[in-house]
Amino acid sequence: MTIELTSVGKSITEANGEVRELFSDLDFSLSGVPTSVAIMGRSGSGKTSLLRILAGLDPRYSGEYYFDGEEVGRDPLKLTRLRWNSIGYVTQHFDLLSDRSVLRNVMFGCPDRRNAKARSLESLERVGIAYLANKPVNRLSGGESQRVAIARALTKHPRVLLADEPTGALDAETEEHILTVFDDVKSAGTSIVVATHSDKVAARCDRILYLVDRQLRCD
Ligand SMILES: Nc1ncnc2c1ncn2[C@@H]1O[C@H](COP(=O)(O)OP(=O)(O)O)[C@@H](O)[C@H]1O
Ligand SMILES: [Mg+2]
Repeated sequence: MTIELTSVGKSITEANGEVRELFSDLDFSLSGVPTSVAIMGRSGSGKTSLLRILAGLDPRYSGEYYFDGEEVGRDPLKLTRLRWNSIGYVTQHFDLLSDRSVLRNVMFGCPDRRNAKARSLESLERVGIAYLANKPVNRLSGGESQRVAIARALTKHPRVLLADEPTGALDAETEEHILTVFDDVKSAGTSIVVATHSDKVAARCDRILYLVDRQLRCD
């Protein structure tokens, strides 16, 4: 799996109509053996915005994005296909369907419809909450919801896992468990890009990048 961002820029329009550049001329590449990368940076520096571009959710950027050597472009169908087949994305706010069970939510992440249930149970097992499978997600704690979101992202065995502050709602012990899950996921061939404020999470990654001054820097 290779990911390459070349000269990528992203501007946003503030509520007062002012246009602000979050990043510009940003280069990023991920290739070779499965790798984990931490993206750190102040709140508001654009970490989530960058992950959304990588996830194929935001076509409104300048520059180029290549996945496995092919330009991703802005075609919605192509973006959806990329996301559906290759990318697991754990969003900062989990984005679960609140009126459905844990299992149903996780099954929504699995493109392999015929085996969705078995694979979803396996993912839930992996993050340690298989016993919650039939519980409605609106009855879960923040940490449990976070693990449902992680399980959902893993059911497809993605080529790359994008995780936005994936341990923000977890206690230290559960965080450690999830970091071990991420280590296993990487060993099984999936690269990981994680936006985090946690030094502990970052220290477990192969590379740490900082989003500062509208650029990604090594330190
Ligand atoms: N669609 C949008 N419209 C307007 N402002 C946005 C939009 N998305 C993000 N922002 C703003 O862009 C900045 C960066 O946001 P974000 O990418 O969420 O940063 P981070 O994840 O590093 O905290 C924030 O100031 C946020 O309010
Ligand atoms: Mg964020």
